[in-house]
Amino acid sequence: MRVSSLLLLTGALMTHGKTFHWPSPEMDWIDSVLYEQPFFENITANCAARDNTTVAAQWIRLAFHDMSTYNVDDGTGGLDGSVIYEFDRAENIGMNRSIGDFLGFSAPFFSLADIIAAGVVIGTVSCDGPKIPYRAGRIDATSSGPLGVPQPQEDLALLTERFRKAGFTPSEMISFTACGHVLGGVTQQDFPEVLKDRPFVFFNEKTRLFDNGVVTQYLDGSTTNPLVVGVNETMNSDLRIFSSDGNATMQSLTSPNDFRSTCASLFERMINTVPRNVALTDVIDPFDFKVGTARLSVTDDTNKLVMTASLRILNPKDNPNREVSLVWVDRDGTSPCGEKCTSPATNVSQIGTTLLTKGHGKTALQYTFMVDNIDPAKSIAKFWFEIDEKDGSPKTEVKNDDGSGYVVEEHDVLYDVTRSKINFSATQANFTSLIVIAVKDEYAQDAQIRLQTFNPFLLPFRTSVLNATLDPQFPKAAGYSFFSVSPEPLTNSFDVYYGDVVPNNLRQKFGLVFEAKNVGVLPPS
Ligand SMILES: *[C@@H]1O[C@H](CO)[C@@H](O)[C@H](O)[C@H]1NC(C)=O
Ligand SMILES: *[C@@H]1O[C@H](CO)[C@@H](O)[C@H](O)[C@H]1NC(C)=O
Ligand SMILES: *[C@@H]1O[C@H](CO)[C@@H](O)[C@H](O)[C@H]1NC(C)=O
Ligand SMILES: *[C@@H]1O[C@H](CO)[C@@H](O)[C@H](O)[C@H]1NC(C)=O
Ligand SMILES: *[C@@H]1O[C@H](CO)[C@@H](O)[C@H](O)[C@H]1NC(C)=O
Ligand SMILES: *[C@@H]1O[C@H](CO)[C@@H](O)[C@H](O)[C@H]1NC(C)=O
Ligand SMILES: *[C@@H]1O[C@H](CO)[C@@H](O)[C@H](O)[C@H]1NC(C)=O
Ligand SMILES: *[C@@H]1O[C@H](CO)[C@@H](O)[C@H](O)[C@H]1NC(C)=O
Ligand SMILES: *[C@@H]1O[C@H](CO)[C@@H](O)[C@H](O)[C@H]1NC(C)=O
Repeated sequence: MRVSSLLLLTGALMTHGKTFHWPSPEMDWIDSVLYEQPFFENITANCAARDNTTVAAQWIRLAFHDMSTYNVDDGTGGLDGSVIYEFDRAENIGMNRSIGDFLGFSAPFFSLADIIAAGVVIGTVSCDGPKIPYRAGRIDATSSGPLGVPQPQEDLALLTERFRKAGFTPSEMISFTACGHVLGGVTQQDFPEVLKDRPFVFFNEKTRLFDNGVVTQYLDGSTTNPLVVGVNETMNSDLRIFSSDGNATMQSLTSPNDFRSTCASLFERMINTVPRNVALTDVIDPFDFKVGTARLSVTDDTNKLVMTASLRILNPKDNPNREVSLVWVDRDGTSPCGEKCTSPATNVSQIGTTLLTKGHGKTALQYTFMVDNIDPAKSIAKFWFEIDEKDGSPKTEVKNDDGSGYVVEEHDVLYDVTRSKINFSATQANFTSLIVIAVKDEYAQDAQIRLQTFNPFLLPFRTSVLNATLDPQFPKAAGYSFFSVSPEPLTNSFDVYYGDVVPNNLRQKFGLVFEAKNVGVLPPS
């Protein structure tokens, strides 16, 4: 057996496990919001406090209000982002306090409703709650849904009917209410009939973290839950719900572990309550080996191509001697370095959100690569990775889910991150950008380069189609001409088309404005 086929076999054995078929910009992005990026999780990190309550409690409440207008009888409603059209309703009082947290992470394939669902998963784990499986694929509504959020002044029959209509049995209503009231409490500003003399009271005053105190304190009579022991009986909806079956369900929730798993499963059902015609993805667990975007660009001085890429490794052994390399072959198989070229990692860093580390119990290292002397005539046909632990064990090859390597499909129309620019505002949450597209000279004449752009910072999210035009500030280089366009401020991503915006003309899917290498700060206006 030749060494290379031995490596291949080892590689095939070692690369089993959860992975997606690269490229999948969709899975790459969703995985990174859940498991890699600090930005979303940072808002709720360590069960962060806000508005006298916790961010996680606000996020769970928002998801519940968006979901609870589901109609199990006709399969409409559910978690669909319709809450953004419903903030003026009495039943959604205070709900707009946290909506801003969800802006900026969406993509055409990752809806506001998907982020609201992710907020439940990330918020819960940030307060030491259980891991909740996450799926994407929700579709945002374009208008308000029906009324129907359960409210504290409602009687038991109406509350029971509201939960039934949302898909929950009377016993599940009890568990779900207890789980929903693990975090957070009542705000006087929103419920002056419940709280007369204090701005805020937690459902469980003993901890801000996830435990079943809301159950045990109810049963032993020590609860301070304002919806149980409030002075205005009309508003004691938790008491009506908790006692509705003679406390049988509450008594079944006294074991902390059973309570956690009951809550995990009810929260999972909450976020997966979607209109009947919506198909969610499989559960998105962290991928074993994750290859980030590999971006080919034209260097700014050497008439060569440069490619950046990254590889994330889960649960790596602690091994400072490990060498991780990117291996590549060019398009005619006669690389400057012989049969194949090898580039060592340029950097390695520990990454991972709380959902990755605490929720999934995993650690991650991210290796980054930059290959900068690529002959533009030959480009890169495909690449893969070799991991050498330097301990005598065979190298591991990471070669995509099917073992065939990571194939670079597009060489003629590139998102040129070398020339692209982004300016952040010094004074407000705002940014502008110049997106540069490199087009092979032979295809540049009369080329129609269109970008479908996406702005996830303004509600409802905005999609636009823009024409990029030949940009004289960038002279031809490496056999490419440069087109550019400035999308509206706050545009964060785009797809690049050569010609009309139809699937066959798609050349670059999901470029991020933040990949631009030229970063500036806009002077205050
Ligand atoms: C969010 O990130 C910033 C800067 O990285 C950090 O200073 C801050 O403590 C983080 N917030 C939380 C709640 O961890
Ligand atoms: C939080 O509590 C303070 C007083 O402690 C109060 O002035 C403020 O209105 C409360 N905020 C909310 C959102 O309830
Ligand atoms: C939420 O809505 C209320 C009532 O319309 C408004 O007074 C408040 O400023 C809004 N809060 C936020 C954070 O948008
Ligand atoms: C109790 O709450 C109900 C419903 O909000 C309200 O109509 C009633 O006036 C309240 N009673 C008292 C004594 O505050
Ligand atoms: C349910 O538990 C509460 C709190 O301990 C108690 O006040 C109530 O009497 C119980 N109800 C029944 C039917 O046992
Ligand atoms: C390498 O990673 C470290 C740790 O995350 C970071 O501080 C540093 O800026 C990185 N260096 C380069 C060249 O990207
Ligand atoms: C962002 O900045 C641009 C350009 O400076 C300005 O026209 C736009 O109004 C700003 N948008 C927001 C939301 O501040
Ligand atoms: C960024 O700001 C600089 C300096 O004000 C300006 O010359 C440039 O056109 C801006 N670029 C973008 C993409 O906004
Ligand atoms: C883009 O170019 C096409 C074809 O030249 C033209 O029909 C369309 O109006 C242009 N779009 C914009 C936004 O300028």
